[in-house]
Order: sequence, then C-alpha cells, then structure tokens
Amino acid sequence: MHIRPRRNRQSEAIRNMVRESRLHTDQLVQPLFLVDGRDLQEPIASMPGQYRWSRELLLEEIDRCLEVGISRFALFPVVADANKDKKATYGHAPGNFYLKAIRTIKEIYPDVLLIGDVAMDPYSKDGHDGLVDAEGTIVNDETLPILARLAVAQAQAGIDLIGPSDMMDGRVRYLRDALDEKGFTQVGIMSYTAKYASAFYGPFREALDSAPKSGNKKTYQMDPANAREALREAALDEAEGADFLMVKPALAYLDIISAVKNQTNLPVAAYHVSGEYAMLMAAVKEGWLELEPAVTETLTCIRRAGADIILTYLAKAYARMLRANGG
Ligand code: PBG
Repeated sequence: MHIRPRRNRQSEAIRNMVRESRLHTDQLVQPLFLVDGRDLQEPIASMPGQYRWSRELLLEEIDRCLEVGISRFALFPVVADANKDKKATYGHAPGNFYLKAIRTIKEIYPDVLLIGDVAMDPYSKDGHDGLVDAEGTIVNDETLPILARLAVAQAQAGIDLIGPSDMMDGRVRYLRDALDEKGFTQVGIMSYTAKYASAFYGPFREALDSAPKSGNKKTYQMDPANAREALREAALDEAEGADFLMVKPALAYLDIISAVKNQTNLPVAAYHVSGEYAMLMAAVKEGWLELEPAVTETLTCIRRAGADIILTYLAKAYARMLRANGG
C-alpha cells in the first residue's frame, strides 16, 4: 500500500494543519429576545439557556457576549398582545421598546453589529409575517409598505442591517428603495432568502408568542422539498440589492447552503434555528449527547457546507468553549 489517507490524521498537529473549515467568533451571530419591562429575564421553556430580556438585563447579556468575542446580534421583540393589531402598527410606533433598545445598545456599544427583524408577525394579531385580508389571504403588495415602515423606523433607531424574514415577493427591492429614499444608503439587507416552512420554528414562536392564529405559512415560506426554488429566490434577492443571502433552517438544508454558495458572490448566512437548538439541548439534558463536541461538529459542518456567517443560539456558548480551550 503506498497511499494511506490515515497518515494525514495521525497527530493533532497534522489534523489541525489539514483542517479545511474553521469557525471564528467573528462569523457568529447571537439571536436575542427582547421584552418590554424592567428586571426581566424570563426563561423560554423549549429553549433552555435562552431568555426574554428586558433592556437593562439585555445590555448585561450583550456585555457577557462581548467578553467572549461575540459582538453581532439579531434582535427579536416579544410584544404584548395589547400592542398587536392587524397592521403591525406598534412595530413602527415612535420610541417603542424595541426601537429604544436598538438606540441604547448602539449608544453604549457603537461597535456592536445589530440585525433588526423585519416582518409583521411579532406585532400582528394574526401571527402572520404579512397582512391578512378579509378572506384570510396573506396579501403581498399591501404588506410591502408596512415592512418599509418597520425597516425605516429601525434604521432611524440606528440598526446596522435589517433582516427581512417575511418572504414576501419583491421586498428586498422595495426595502432598498425605502431606505435609500430616507438617506439610509449604508443600512444593509441580510435577506432571509431561502426560508422554509419548517417545523423547527416552534420554540421561537413560543418565545415570541407569535404562532399564526389561523392557517400556516406555506403560501410564503418555501416547501422543504424544493431546492431549485431556493436558487430562484437567491437570484431575485441578489438582483433586488440584498447584501447577504440567508438559508434557514440550517442542518436539514446543508445542500441548499452549498447550492446558494455556488451561485452567488454575496456572503451566505445560515440560521441554525430554535428547533435545532432545542433538539440538541434536550439530548444534552438527558445525557444522550455531549454538548461541546456536538456543538462544535454542528457549527463546523454548517460552515463546511458554505455558510460564511451562522446565526445560532449557541454563539455565546461556543465562544466560551473556544476561550476555555485556548482557541
Ligand atoms: C418570523 C421568524 C421566525 C423565525 C425568525 N423570524 C419564525 C417563523 O417564521 O414563524 C424563526 C427563528 C427560529 O426558529 O429560531 N418572521
């Protein structure tokens, strides 16, 4: 035998040298849930280790993340029922708690990167990402101006990137125009490009209390069976002016991450979602999986598939592990 692949695996020194994919904390985004009120740190049952934070405590959590090198955050608001209506009015109400928090965070930590969520569901009585008409249809074109108001309000509060997570047609172009018109040419768009109608968003909807009141999201989120459709969405978002393309969820969609990466020169993000986090944490809690190697393998493989950026609830935990291991 003259060819022995095992030669390149025989020591830590060789393995570290030939490793093809590495994950740096700069490539991780920590999603955080923000709730109105004071001194709140509410646990989310299906997401052990994740909380709904009120503003002051959120700042402390951001501080803990910064200590381990996590400085990029996707912020999601948990809105009281009383503030929800059909048109997501609260989402652009001047000085709502979400906009206030964005402003405060950017004042205290100007170097932190904040990604704002642009979709109607946190603020919508119907629990849908778009406007629901009298027949129960999620109407596309009437949703766009509402999304634009959310985006502009967040831009005014100081957001760095907006993340349209709604999957309406034409929204990237519409939001780009709306931001530019108000002078926010430097606010970027991380588009939820290939967002699937997934069973793995359950814990997130529990966190936000944002589950659809009727029907499901299949007329706007993608069919998990489809791959070419993701490339169609990717081409559109790129042409419409997106700065990043995102695939969501991540683990069951590694082929989609890879295909999108091969089609675009834009940075590709993957969202390792709440249900994926819940599965892992549940198994760890039972003692069926070991956290550290399972997290490392999960995130490294999402990276290997082609993700330049990973949004994951494990960002802080992973960064802590790296620190503890001298990485
Ligand atoms: C809704 C939104 C969802 C997530 C991010 N934005 C859920 C949904 O579409 O119902 C899910 C994130 C996660 O599960 O971690 N605009």
